[in-house]
This record gives sequence, C-alpha cells and structure tokens, in this order.
Amino acid sequence: MPGFEIFGDEERKEVQDVLATGVLFRYGFDQARQGHWKAREFEAELTKRIGTKYCHLCSSGTAALSIALASCGIGAGDEVIVPPFTFIATIEAVLNAGAVPVFAEIDETLCLDPESIQRVITPNTKAILPVHMCGAMAQIDEIKSLCAQKGLILIEDACQALGSTYEGKFLGAFGQMGCFSFDPVKTVTCGEGGAIVTSDKELYTAADAYSDHGHDHLGSDRGLEGHPILGANYRISELNAAVGLAQLRKLNFILEKQRAHKKAIRDALSKFSEISFRKLPDKKGDSATFLSFFLPNESDARNVAGALGQAGVDSCFYWYDNNWHYIRQWYHLKKLQSAAKLPIKLLERCPDYEKVELPRSDQIMSRTISMLIKLSWTEEELGQRIEKIAGVIRKYGPG
Ligand SMILES: Cc1ncc(COP(=O)(O)O)c(C=O)c1O
Repeated sequence: MPGFEIFGDEERKEVQDVLATGVLFRYGFDQARQGHWKAREFEAELTKRIGTKYCHLCSSGTAALSIALASCGIGAGDEVIVPPFTFIATIEAVLNAGAVPVFAEIDETLCLDPESIQRVITPNTKAILPVHMCGAMAQIDEIKSLCAQKGLILIEDACQALGSTYEGKFLGAFGQMGCFSFDPVKTVTCGEGGAIVTSDKELYTAADAYSDHGHDHLGSDRGLEGHPILGANYRISELNAAVGLAQLRKLNFILEKQRAHKKAIRDALSKFSEISFRKLPDKKGDSATFLSFFLPNESDARNVAGALGQAGVDSCFYWYDNNWHYIRQWYHLKKLQSAAKLPIKLLERCPDYEKVELPRSDQIMSRTISMLIKLSWTEEELGQRIEKIAGVIRKYGPG
C-alpha cells in the first residue's frame, strides 16, 4: 500500500516545520512550538474525513488496537471474535489485553462471516473485531446489527482500509471504535503511526489517557496533570505526525489512482471465466489497494501464483502459504509461544489453538491470490503488467 511512493516537498515541508522548532513531543511546549501541532492537526483532519467526532493519533496500528480494546473495557478473560485472515497484530493485541481471541470463519469478502460469528458467541463474548482486509469492507452492516442484537462491542480493524466506505460511510466509523495503521506500507504513512476514531466522548477520553500513561491532559502543566487510570506509552512523535499530515492530504489522489489502476487489471482479468473476484459488499467503497481473486482450486491457485512470480509480476500474494496473514502458519500462536507467560495461560478454559478448524476459510484462502495496486505505474507499465498477467493465466490457469 503505497503512500511512500509519493513522498515529496509536502512531507519535507511539514517535517521541516517541526525540526525548525525542535519540539518533537506532541504535548506542551506551547511557546517553543510556534503554532505547530502536527498530531492535533492530523487528528482534526482525519476526524473530518471519517466523520466521527474524535480521533486519537498514536504510535502504530497495533497500539491503536490495544488502546481500543482497553478503552472499551476489554481485558482479562473476555472473548473477542476475530478472523483467521488478518495481520497477526490483531490477534497479538487481543492476547496482550489479557483477552481471548476466538476465531470465526471468513467468507468470500475475505472478512468475518456474520453467520459463523453467531456460532462462536458464548456468554464470555465481549466484542467482535472484524478486520477490513486488503482495502475493502467486511459485511459491516450485518456485523453491526449482530453486535446490537447481542449487546456486544464492535471494534473495527480498518488498518488496511483507510478511505474505504460502505454505503457512503467510512470504515472505522461503524463500531464503538475504529483502528487505522500508518506504518511504512499503508495507504497513508507516518513512517510509523496509527489512530483510533470514535464518536463516544467517554471512550475517546479513556483512549487519550491510556495512550499516555493515563494523563488527563487537563491544564497547562504536564507535571500537575491528573492520572485517572494506568496506561502505557503509545504516543506518536510530531515528526511522524508531520509526515502523515502531508500524506493524508494526498488521500483523494491516492484513491483515485488506485481505483483506476485496479479497474484496468480487473477488466482484463474478467475475460477469464475461470476467475472470480472477491465479494465486495459495496464496490463503490473499495479503496482499491489490492485486487483479490479466486481460482477454482488450490492447485490452480498455486500454479498461477508461482508463474506470476516467475514472469516478474511483483507484489502478488498467495496468503495461504504466507506466515504473517493467515492462521495456517501461525505456529507461534498455535503453541502460544511468547517472550513471557501470557495472561491467557492462567485461564482454566485456555483454548488450544492447534485444534482450531476453519475449513471454509481454508477453502477460500487456498484459492485466493491478491495483487497489490501501486500508484507509480505508468500507463505503459500497467499495460505490460496486464499482458504478463493475462499470459500467465492463459498458460497456467485452468481450462
Ligand atoms: C489488518 C492489520 N491490523 C493491524 C496492523 C498493525 O499495524 P502497525 O504495523 O501499524 O502496528 C496491520 C499492519 O500491517 C494490519 O494489516
């Protein structure tokens, strides 16, 4: 995901503003900072964009997830329903909160299947944590209704889906809290960064405090601020916020380019009847960071994925074999291997993740290939890429 492809004078100017003052801290130093509040500005602009009332910028998407879980009161022993297709950070955040990840199946949206969620709800379920993978949406309206019906908290992991909408509303704005990542390979990057968004004042206040050792940020003397809760340090620096601010202002351009590039490749692939595409609950809202498609079976998908690599079509992912994004190869999770004893191990009902079976998700992921969509392709490069892809599918695809 390509924010870094378009670094320019805008990023340099924002960073220079910060360096010129020497104030890298996001709080205080009111005189010295000469009016530059990059983190605050970013928060105001993201809030406006997403349409929530509040936003808190923090040090990473993983931090955003931890902040969201803590602020929503999710902790020791609480069950959180998660998908098996996500970056492992989602699961780590739940474990580090002392909570219990419970896996439900994904469907052809590549995100949590609402029906499967229903089957794993127990009296200990406290939240549902759908992940809007690869730039597009889960069936978020159904998941939201399910949460309302069952009295569960909805936290959206929209780390990969900045700018994506469902029926005109931005992903991240459907639940109690939404989480974004601005790491170096996201749609918009801060270098490292993340954010939570919410329209609930109490949750925002808890998030703001939790991410800075519980500081209430009231008054003008940091040393005299109250600490209503214990927290952590998930602060972002002004330098990172400055990079992100310039990037965020390019989001419309990024989305437009991605959508045009994706459409060209998708149109070319739709001529192959043996290929089908990821289900998008709202096609118009896709941020188009990836094109994901299905081959009829695992063997065809493996052949095509391998041949794409050999033909020099870069950034194609066969997630089923990838050890970051799909549960199949999360051996560390299956054995609950961590640097130190995890709170989950103290539970009488500690789950055995080696026994988790998700046949539907396996069936879908083993047939899925995702192609990254880049901004920097020229028309000529895009055309060549399409020719190579079509050539591979003609030669190695089914039929
Ligand atoms: C779905 C998802 N959740 C969470 C994260 C964590 O974000 P970060 O790298 O900013 O900690 C990522 C990052 O890749 C992600 O893709």
